[in-house]
Amino acid sequence: DKGNHRHFMEKEIHEQPEVISHTLAHYLDFTQGTSKPLDLPFSFADIDRLAVSACGTAYLAGLVGKYWFERHARLPVDIDVASEFRYREMPISKKSAAFFVSQSGETADTLASLRYCRKAGVPIGSIVNVRESTMARESDVVMPTLAGPEIGVASTKAFTCQLSVLAALTIRAASQRGTISADEERALVRSLSETPRYAAQVLKLDKQIEKVARELASYKHVLYLGRDTNFPLAMEGALKLKEISYIHAEGYAAGELKHGPIALIDENMPVIVIAPHDRIFEKTVSNMQEVAARGGKIILITDQKGAAQATVKTMETIVLPDVPEFIAPIIYALPIQMLAYFTAVFMGTDVDQPRNLAKSVTVE
Ligand code: M6R
Repeated sequence: DKGNHRHFMEKEIHEQPEVISHTLAHYLDFTQGTSKPLDLPFSFADIDRLAVSACGTAYLAGLVGKYWFERHARLPVDIDVASEFRYREMPISKKSAAFFVSQSGETADTLASLRYCRKAGVPIGSIVNVRESTMARESDVVMPTLAGPEIGVASTKAFTCQLSVLAALTIRAASQRGTISADEERALVRSLSETPRYAAQVLKLDKQIEKVARELASYKHVLYLGRDTNFPLAMEGALKLKEISYIHAEGYAAGELKHGPIALIDENMPVIVIAPHDRIFEKTVSNMQEVAARGGKIILITDQKGAAQATVKTMETIVLPDVPEFIAPIIYALPIQMLAYFTAVFMGTDVDQPRNLAKSVTVE
């Protein structure tokens, strides 16, 4: 039932404040400001690597997780798309654990990667939205995303709930590995507790985002740029746009601009820059200047500080609330989903059932 929404995708985008809150409550104790103990068959203190494998949007959630685990828990993460992971014969050290991220829990390549790691004899954890799925059954520990059924082929609420679980696990790992103090743990938990409120604020930007989408719908190519955790988000923005609007889009690490994609910049290819005012904001501003100097049109997604300090002319600036850096990837996922959604609506595509795609890819 779509309720009063035009599409399941729209409904699922709007459910995010609630389902994120639900998911986080499963993993975090907000009154104590700590992560809850999980039934993991290992301690994060006893491993020296984490292998992560997934497909599509779930892979991009895992990639954000890599930045988090490495930064906060000082735990190296090897991450691959599952179709590569399963065949590249990666050596898996006995002192590692393996996590698999999947909405359906049935994706063929992800399941094959899981079985590969099972053979290697390391503990297996799955972050899945379907508790009764094959991946859940074959895992030592299931870490559920509590997003509820996701009907739209384009993954939205499952993605932000995957991020929520990975963020909570990062805190758990950091605390077990002693890489954050009790005060830092409380601060991270507190910042996550504010996610649903910020997400609800972002949903109110729908009119502005719809206006940007109306323009975007007249272009054939779009480039997304971001650094750090916004790099996976740039790829997620591009994936979302191409799968439901059929507009060609690419997501790049902003620092890679000079190494190729800058050759494409002209007034016919808008560049969407995802750049909260964080530790490397100034670097992204230089990339925007390079785009502007070549007549490129910029759509900047940033916060109030970023909007004030970006010394560059944009086609449009979407200003989100100032949020703690740790939770930014969860909050910035929303405008890119909304942008893809409204663009697809303008294009008149079948938003919930885009051509050639299936919700669950159970064949290789
Ligand atoms: O069910 P899974 O999370 O394993 O599915 C993985 C991908 O097929 C999925 O995320 C796909 O990329 C989505 N259509 C993206 O919106």
